[in-house]
Amino acid sequence: MSDTARHPFLEGLSKHRGAPPTVIVIFGASGDLTSRKLVPALYNLGLDSLLPSEFHLLGYGRKPIPDEEFQANCERDLEKFSRRPLNKDIWGHVKPNVGYHAGGYDDPKAFTELKERMLKIEKEAGRDLQFLFYISTPPSVFKPILENLGSSGLARHHDGTDLASKVIIEKPFGRDLDTAKELNRIITDQFHEHQVYRIDHYLGKETVQDLLVLRFANSIFEPLWNRNYVDCVQITVAESLGVGTRGGYYDQSGATRDMLQNHTMQLLALTAMEAPVSLGAEAIRDEKVKLLKAIQPLRLEGENCDAVRAQYGEGLIDGVRAPGYMQEQDIPQDSSTETYGALRFSIDNWRWQGVPFYLRSGKRLARRVSEIAIRFKQPPGILFSDPTRFDLANNTLVIQIQPDEGTTLLMNSKIPGLETRTQAVKMHFRYATTFGSNTPEAYERLILDCMIGDSTLFIRGDETETSWGLYTPLLESWQELGRKGLQSYPCGSWGPLAADKLLWQSNHEWR
Ligand code: NDP
Ligand code: BG6
Repeated sequence: MSDTARHPFLEGLSKHRGAPPTVIVIFGASGDLTSRKLVPALYNLGLDSLLPSEFHLLGYGRKPIPDEEFQANCERDLEKFSRRPLNKDIWGHVKPNVGYHAGGYDDPKAFTELKERMLKIEKEAGRDLQFLFYISTPPSVFKPILENLGSSGLARHHDGTDLASKVIIEKPFGRDLDTAKELNRIITDQFHEHQVYRIDHYLGKETVQDLLVLRFANSIFEPLWNRNYVDCVQITVAESLGVGTRGGYYDQSGATRDMLQNHTMQLLALTAMEAPVSLGAEAIRDEKVKLLKAIQPLRLEGENCDAVRAQYGEGLIDGVRAPGYMQEQDIPQDSSTETYGALRFSIDNWRWQGVPFYLRSGKRLARRVSEIAIRFKQPPGILFSDPTRFDLANNTLVIQIQPDEGTTLLMNSKIPGLETRTQAVKMHFRYATTFGSNTPEAYERLILDCMIGDSTLFIRGDETETSWGLYTPLLESWQELGRKGLQSYPCGSWGPLAADKLLWQSNHEWR
């Protein structure tokens, strides 16, 4: 189905935040994501009066759960995971509109019954309601859910009104280029692209959205944001946690599919793309796709190989001994899955030619930190060239995505005293100090955006395919190599030596 009708609701980030009356159905509602993120996100939207006056939530899953039991489960999740305490009065208003619908994901009859239930809710409301489907299941059942939504008539189109159904799909969007194309085909067989919201929760983070503001609402950065002034860009998404109980999923995925291809790549795209012509969804997503298309294929062999992968071994995290990847639950003893990846991308466009973009992501690293570091070139070495007196650091702008969200500028300063000596100093902006720390969670922003029809912070189909096009040859080559060339790093370190060497080749080092 082609996306012919340009949707009037896609006004983008400048849009007024008011959602139409909605019934949201969460497939996989007995799962981890629903408990920890989705239910708390909906509740916090309610607390901020951002849910529509007519709002209904239906969980959907295979095991029969009475409505009252699901309501009690939600209440327990809110007590545990909501960023703000449970207000029983407000929850009391929402609770009667929360229910559960049991059925198989591949059972057409269950979808017909779901439709009848939703139409009944609509009839009782006495007005048209928007139908929003959140697919929060493992990807193995994405296909039957989408097909059943289509065949039961739940994928209502209603072009040009805000009553078209919408579907939110969780990652992963495929595991390589072919499967991503296949998934896009299945989705667009049933829905128009403007009804589809592919979630990458990193785009819902405040600091990630602030990237656009930092770059395009300030005039001092843009003149420097190019190959004439930037020496390299380093994007780090590091976690200190291991795979925990998710070994079964993670071993099929690895750091590249789990983090680099999606979250880290989004950070790269927003950092490097050109200014969009507007804050509209299509304008921003067009620029991201253009940027992704300018990225050169990774070199996979030889001295200039652009990729390093590694697996964590036993080590210390905060002074406590942590097991290696092979000792984790559900991990096969011959696993060649990488828990760390470091990549060097070249972007062959006017702005970035010759500037390396280094990306790294891994589990069980020294600490949890996600940041983008723009390292600028050194000034001409005429005035401060004596290394015994001057230790000049490269100016570096660090955008700290999490934790301790903020921006830091590293610059050189004179050490007070009677002789001229220099030292690198830091200028800080911290969100918590300026704005307070209780900011909305990523899922709050994203679910609200979907309800109001703003797809700016969601991934378009061609974006996933372009990104997979860059990663598929790498993943295929690693699969062929098995454990050959797979590096190791101890828990609690910053990754393998090979990843340091990747940067040393161009006289760089990780921050
Ligand atoms: P879960 O593994 O908890 O599964 C969610 C629900 O899907 C289960 O409760 C179960 O519901 C149903 N389900 C599980 N396995 C199968 C299966 N093999 N066949 C059919 N149904 C199944 O997933 P999460 O909640 O952790 O994640 C949901 C989605 O969100 C996934 O796509 C995941 O990749 C993505 N995601 C999750 C994150 C997280 O932090 N959890 C973070 C980012 C993305 P029932 O038995 O009731 O039908
Ligand atoms: C998820 C990955 O998408 O992102 C997890 O599947 C990872 O493995 C998580 O831990 C990290 O998200 P955040 O928001 O905690 O950085």
